[in-house]
Formats: sequence, structure tokens, C-alpha cells
Amino acid sequence: MSNTLFTLQLEHIAHLQRAYASILAEHKLDSLAIYSGHASVHFADDHTPPFQTYGHFMHWVGLADVQHSWLIVQPEKRPQLYLYAPADFWHLPTHLPDEPWVEAFDIHLCSDKNTPPLTGQTAMMGDIESLAISTQPMPNVARQPEALVTALDELRLFKTPYEIACIREANRLAIAGHQAAQAAFIGASGELDIQLAYLGSSRQRESNVPYQNIIGLNEHAGVLHYQHYDLHAPKQRYSLLVDAGRRFRGYCADITRTYAGPDAPAVFGELVTAMIGLKAELVRGVAPGVSFLALHEQMHHHLGEILVANDVFKGTAKQAVAEGVTRAFCPHGLGHSLGLQVHDVAGLRNPDGTPAPAPVKHPALRLTRTLRPGMVVTIEPGLYFINMLLEPLRNTSLPLNWPLIDQLSSCGGIRIEDNVAVTESGYVNLTP
Ligand code: GLY
Ligand code: MN
Ligand code: MN
Repeated sequence: MSNTLFTLQLEHIAHLQRAYASILAEHKLDSLAIYSGHASVHFADDHTPPFQTYGHFMHWVGLADVQHSWLIVQPEKRPQLYLYAPADFWHLPTHLPDEPWVEAFDIHLCSDKNTPPLTGQTAMMGDIESLAISTQPMPNVARQPEALVTALDELRLFKTPYEIACIREANRLAIAGHQAAQAAFIGASGELDIQLAYLGSSRQRESNVPYQNIIGLNEHAGVLHYQHYDLHAPKQRYSLLVDAGRRFRGYCADITRTYAGPDAPAVFGELVTAMIGLKAELVRGVAPGVSFLALHEQMHHHLGEILVANDVFKGTAKQAVAEGVTRAFCPHGLGHSLGLQVHDVAGLRNPDGTPAPAPVKHPALRLTRTLRPGMVVTIEPGLYFINMLLEPLRNTSLPLNWPLIDQLSSCGGIRIEDNVAVTESGYVNLTP
């Protein structure tokens, strides 16, 4: 690990100490207890599904797989980390890395799953419902106070240089996986083998991925969150969509690439090229002061142009947007905030914490903010041939080229997704 990253991490922790001190003072709190969370066993079993540590805990602690642990934050005091580390011969015991951030905490290694001592006016955050304390009366303890959680979510929306460096590294590692996935597709592999090639080259086990990789061949490329990996390669290879990420020190990459296969009609390859161009253009539109909703609407306008230029829609781009045609081809939002969660917090709030929901016309949009320096967002325009959404348009007089659409439906769809940080003067694309 580079010394620069360690230095940035210490600055990140110092920044959190200052910001938390002022937020706790504002909420008249003497201390805050943040629970890491823990995995629950499957019903009637002693095994657990993969676990994800609570984001506000990871924001401080540079470890991504911590359970049954607590962080106590108090203004003007060193953060107290109660790390669950039982004597356990079934598992490798928890051990702290030899890294400088460890020195910024008072660390208590705990053999039991106890709640740490709480003094003064306290708030508790995290998945505490499943703990025995959830039923105990605690007069000076506020559980999950909404205004506090909202303020800390807002803090997390703006990434420090350390966090941006982590997302950049997550991207670098993920891209190696994407290159291997593309090579596997060229080699005529099926979905499972493409997934295994991705995992191998991005150096991760499946339980550590930030979200289930979407590896869709042919029609499956048009299933937005396609969740299976077919064992066998299809005979025809029209397309591949890979939406796959990587974590680095808890921070996520979320990258999508789409490829035309040897059996795709030529127009599909042209649409892929057009969507790569659209992604690049939208990335160039990222800058402080830009409304993400306006950028999303710009995506729809350009989608209209692409549909017209490729003879999918025989009207005008303006008409395609106004009549909801582009929404049938792209039902999801332009992107979302990215950080310790793939769909990171505070995307649908105003800076003062009041709700800023997605507009009725674009219900799937996950980010309605005005962009500001420090935000990291995904830019992920899509264009899909989803029967369920296109079918209702067949009974209208809209000038859609149905023979062409029917031909393209075997290709599923296209999404191109990069991860972009907003800077003082514009943007930096974190996806190599
Ligand atoms: N991978 C999920 C998304 O792109 O939002
Ligand atoms: Mn994605
Ligand atoms: Mn995404």
C-alpha cells in the first residue's frame, strides 16, 4: 500500500473527527455508538449469507468485513473501536493490519458481543434491531435518530481525496476483470465462465463483490438486474453485457460494458458505438452546479437522436422524448451516488436533509442533486429491447420500426457505465 494512501487516510479520519464533532454538537449529543452489524444465519442453519458492514462504520474503519463491533465517537476525544475478536479455533482470529490508521483509534479487542459503555446523551446507529439491547429501555439513548442519520448521510455524499483514491483503485482492479470478460466472450464462453474469468482477473471471491455481477448474453443483456449465470454457451452470440464491480478498502467500483457479438446485426454494433459516445458526452457534462436531473433529461434527448439516426424511430428525437418512447427503451436513471454502497446514501435529499424524490416521469432516478465537488457518481446511459415495456407502444401510431426492433430484441440491450468524481473545475473520470 502506498504511503500517499495512508497519509490521505489519516487526513480522512481527521476530517471525520472535525465533521462529527460539529454534527454531534448540533444534535446535542455527547457520544455516538455506531454498530458494524452482523450476518444472521439462514433459517434453521448455522451458516450465513455474505455480509456487508454498515456504511457509517466503514466510513471510519478501514476494514470491510467487521461484525459484532462498535465505534464510539465523542467530540474532542479519540474514537474508540470495540472490535469483536473472540478466541475461536474454528476461524482465523481478527487481527489488525499494520497500517497507520490503527494509531488514530483506541482499540479494544473484545471476546464477547457486548454493548460498549455509553455515557451522557447518546445516539445509537446501525442494524441494532437484532441485538438484545433493542428491547431494553435506555433513557439517555436515542436509537437511529433520523435527523442525525440524515446529516451523516449528507457528510458521506462528499468524498475525501482518500475515498476518491480508493474508488479509483477499485476501478483499476475491476477493469482487469472487464478485459478478461471481453476476452472470454470473444472465446465463445458462456455466462458462468465469463463470470469466473471476471472474478479471477479482478482478484476477488464472489462473496466480496459489491453487488451481484450482471453477466448477460443475448436477450439476458436486456434484463436490467439479470441474476443467473447459464452454464452453457448459446449457439448464437449476439451480445454481452457485463455490469460488474470490485471493492477496495470498502469502496465500490460499478462499471458496465456491452459488446456486439459475431451474430449481431450490424446496426447493433452501431448502437453500441453510439452509446459509448453518449456516455462520453454525458461524462463531459459533469461539473459543479449541474443538475443531475437535467443531465438525465439530456440523456433522453440524445437517446431520441440515436433512435432516429439508426432508423429505430422514424419520427423526431423531440417526439421520441415527449411520447415516452425513450423511457420505454431506457427505464432506469442516468446514475447514482457511489461510495461505500453501490447505490450510496443521500441521493434523493436536498442539502438541508429534506426529501428530493425522483420526479413522477423518472421514478427510477436515484440522484436528484445538484452536483458539487467531492461527489462521485455513475454515468450509465442504457438502451434496451424489453418486450414488457415496448409491447404497449405497438398499439399506437408512433412511427417505430418494428421489424428492426424485433431483429434487435435478440441482442437484449446496451449499458455503458463509468464512475466520475466532481471536481472544483469539472470532473475526473475514475474508470480507466
Ligand atoms: N450495478 C447496479 C447499477 O449499475 O446501478
Ligand atoms: Mn452497474
Ligand atoms: Mn450503477
